[in-house]
Order: sequence, then structure tokens, then C-alpha cells
Amino acid sequence: MREIVLLLLASSLLSTSTTAKSTIEPCSSNDTCNSLLGYTLYTDLKVSEVASLFQTDPISLLLANAIDISYPDVENHILPSNLFLKIPLTCSCLDGIRKSLSTRYKTRPSDTLASIAGSVYGGLVSAEQIQEANSVADPSLLDVGTSLVVPLPCACFNGSDDSLPAVYLSYVVRGVDTLAGIARRYETTVSDLMNVNAMGAPDVSSGDILAVPLSACASNFPKYASDFGLIVPNGSYALAAGHCVQCSCALGSRSLYCEPASLAVSCSSMQCRNSNLMLGNITVQQSSAGCNVTTCDYNGFANGTILTMLSNSLQPRCPGPQRFAPLLAPPDTVPKDLMYAPAPSPDYDGPGFIAASPGSFVIPPGGGSLPGNPANGPAGSISTATFSSLSYFFITCLISISFVFSC
Ligand SMILES: *[C@@H]1O[C@H](CO)[C@@H](O)[C@H](O)[C@H]1NC(C)=O
Ligand SMILES: *[C@@H]1O[C@H](CO)[C@@H](O)[C@H](O)[C@H]1NC(C)=O
Ligand SMILES: *[C@@H]1O[C@H](CO)[C@@H](O)[C@H](O)[C@H]1NC(C)=O
Ligand SMILES: *[C@@H]1O[C@H](CO)[C@@H](O)[C@H](O)[C@H]1NC(C)=O
Ligand SMILES: *[C@@H]1O[C@H](CO)[C@@H](O)[C@H](O)[C@H]1NC(C)=O
Ligand SMILES: *[C@@H]1O[C@H](CO)[C@@H](O)[C@H](O)[C@H]1NC(C)=O
Repeated sequence: MREIVLLLLASSLLSTSTTAKSTIEPCSSNDTCNSLLGYTLYTDLKVSEVASLFQTDPISLLLANAIDISYPDVENHILPSNLFLKIPLTCSCLDGIRKSLSTRYKTRPSDTLASIAGSVYGGLVSAEQIQEANSVADPSLLDVGTSLVVPLPCACFNGSDDSLPAVYLSYVVRGVDTLAGIARRYETTVSDLMNVNAMGAPDVSSGDILAVPLSACASNFPKYASDFGLIVPNGSYALAAGHCVQCSCALGSRSLYCEPASLAVSCSSMQCRNSNLMLGNITVQQSSAGCNVTTCDYNGFANGTILTMLSNSLQPRCPGPQRFAPLLAPPDTVPKDLMYAPAPSPDYDGPGFIAASPGSFVIPPGGGSLPGNPANGPAGSISTATFSSLSYFFITCLISISFVFSC
């Protein structure tokens, strides 16, 4: 009798289980890089609670989603269940692959590895991966208050995609998603997603984790700067220099724009040497020869000092205003049409449409030259033989099968 029940259980688990795929990026150096997790809230949570789930800074979390941090008590604002957020994550190179092991979760009563993985962390990790990372012998005996390492997916691909600066979002595919819908939502193409994830066919299943490239603005700071390699996705904001500097990537732009942060207190000087310009200031001078553009740019944070750089260029025409993503009020609701729509409208890329303040405008710095190193980006086309065989693996994990056999 008992054997029959077990067999039925096994076959029902096997028939409902699918194989979830996730993209793994091999790496060799010790460096860390910036990446994002696509996370859907499993319940109503305060901003500070979401931040502590991922051990990230609440202010950085809000800015990554273009949410206005000047709202009173914004860290205690309750975000609604099902809200989709981009969580900034530092991506490491461990055992030759890109992943993050810096997140820990303290178990609560009634938690199971499956509920922690599938619900609390929204499918970004599997129960088996948590079990393995923590050498949990018997998942049914989980003590309350145990601190578990939660291995999280991430990818950087050298901060570029098709030779242009990019930040990679680890995106958990939902049942309603299609590859075309995901590509449209993140302003990329099906073929680019297939290239990046080394996919043979444009098919995705619920639970797969894709690396989605988001166009970004890259910095060009010296190596000794502590924020060397800073990269900010299009339409997003980031804090630098110990919350003294705020950097953003204007809509449709590739040049990072940094200025003193609104919260800046006790910061080192932000004035460019040999000038009266402050960080973020841009002056233009029209002459017969063209437009003389002078900018005071942020050049990284080193030894507690904010590095600035005065740059000067003569451009044929004076640059027009640059448009930044509007900062949104902390959301209270999830737009209904976006929760289940197979292909969310292209410009939905954050918590909501509730614009609190209009986007700010400044003159773009520099002459539209691309930061980063366009010639050396790692992303190639799928027709390159070495591309899919050497660079990327599409790893298939058999979820639940090992679990069934071990019971
Ligand atoms: C990685 O870092 C460790 C300690 O931080 C160091 O001992 C090791 O040499 C580094 N390896 C490489 C390949 O840089
Ligand atoms: C940046 O994002 C905005 C809206 O989110 C979009 O309109 C624009 O095309 C994007 N720019 C690039 C270069 O992807
Ligand atoms: C320069 O930047 C500072 C700080 O952001 C600002 O207060 C000031 O108005 C700017 N000056 C000019 C000329 O743009
Ligand atoms: C551009 O303006 C700066 C200061 O405003 C000045 O020092 C520089 O000589 C000017 N360059 C040209 C080419 O006019
Ligand atoms: C940082 O400060 C230390 C001690 O003051 C100095 O030895 C080092 O050269 C400085 N590094 C940089 C990059 O300025
Ligand atoms: C990564 O990018 C940097 C500059 O952006 C370049 O110098 C380096 O060669 C690239 N590395 C690879 C493996 O493509």
C-alpha cells in the first residue's frame, strides 16, 4: 500500500515537473561586477524588508527602480505584492562561474526550502541549490532561525552586449512570457536574447532564468577608484562616493551623468580643479568655430576623495537637453494590465507609471562619444563558432527528479 502511494506521488511529481534552464557565465578573474535581479514581491513588504532579503542598501534599491527617495520615511513604505523590482546585486566569480553567494536568509516558522526558493526569492534559486550550498542533510528538518546562504544567479559578460555597454538582469520566466514579449519589454531583440543565452530555439518555459541585457551608461574611472567599472542601466539611477554623488543614465543616452546627490552630507569637495565648475555643471559657448562645451565630470571615488575631471570639447552644434527617467512615487499598487499580460507595454520597466516629479533636463556632457570599449565587447553573434561553444553554456537543471529519487 505504502509503495503504491509513493509511486503515485513520484509519477505525479515527475509529470508536473519541468526542466528549468538558466544561463551560466564562466569567469576566471576575481573581479566583481554590477548586475540586477528581476524580483517579484511574494507579499506586501516594506522597502527595508526587500532590501534586507537581498542584503542591499534600500536607497540603492529605490534608485535602481527610479523611485523618488525624497518621500518621507520612504524606507518604511510598504510595496505591494506582485510588484516587479530590479534588485542591484554585486556579481562575483566563484568556482569559475558568475554567481552571488553573499545573500543569507534566516529561516522562520513554516518555511521550507521550496517556499524560500519559490516564494520568498521568487524562483531566482531552487530548493536543491539552497540545500547544496548549505549542505542541508534533511530538508524536512529545518530549524527556525537557521542562517542559510541563498545562491543567486548573475551575469556580467564584461559589461557589454554587441560591443555596447550593458547591465544584465537575471529574469525568471513566467508562464505568460514569450521570448518576443521579454525582448520587447527590455528593448532588445529575440536574436540577441538567444545569443546571450546560447539558445537553440526561441522557446522559454516558466521558471527558466534568462540573462537579459539592458542598455547602459558605462564609466571610465581609473582602476584605483573604489567604484571602478560603475555602470548604470538606461533610465536608472545609482549612488556613488558614499552617497555623495548620484549618477544616472539618461533615456536613449550612453553617457553617464553624475551630480551631487540630494542627500549629500559631509562630502569632500566636488569642485573641478582650476575652475569654478561643480560636479555635473556644463557650460556651452557658441562661437564661429562651433560650440565649446565644458563639463565637470565625476571620475570615481578614491581614498575618500571625490575625483573630478574638467573636460573641454568643441562640437559642431550645441547639445540639446538630455531627458532623464522621471522619478516615481513609491508605488502602492501594481498596474493590473501589467500583472498578467503576456507582453507588457514596451516602456514598462519598473514599479509603475505614477510619476511624482517630471524628469529633469540637462545638457548632455561630452560629444556623444561612447564610453567603454566598443571594440572589445565579448558579445558576438551566434554565427561565430567559438561564441556558443566556448563562451556560454545553457545548463539544464533537473529540478525535483533527484528529490523524488531520494525519498
Ligand atoms: C583571488 O583573490 C584571492 C584573495 O583575495 C587571491 O589570493 C588570489 O590570488 C586571486 N586570484 C586571482 C586569479 O586573481
Ligand atoms: C531607455 O529606456 C527608455 C524608456 O525606458 C526607452 O524609451 C529608450 O529607448 C531606452 N534607450 C535605449 C538606448 O535603450
Ligand atoms: C553647478 O552645480 C551646482 C551643484 O549641482 C549647482 O548648485 C549650480 O547651480 C551649478 N551651476 C551652474 C552654473 O550650472
Ligand atoms: C572653451 O572654453 C573654455 C572655458 O570656458 C576655454 O578655456 C577654452 O579655451 C575654450 N576653447 C575653445 C576652443 O574655444
Ligand atoms: C591613498 O592614501 C594612502 C595613504 O594616505 C596613499 O599611500 C595612497 O597612495 C593613496 N592612494 C591613492 C590612489 O591616492
Ligand atoms: C572587457 O572589456 C574591456 C574594456 O571594456 C576590454 O579591455 C577587455 O578586453 C574585455 N574583455 C573581454 C574578455 O572581452
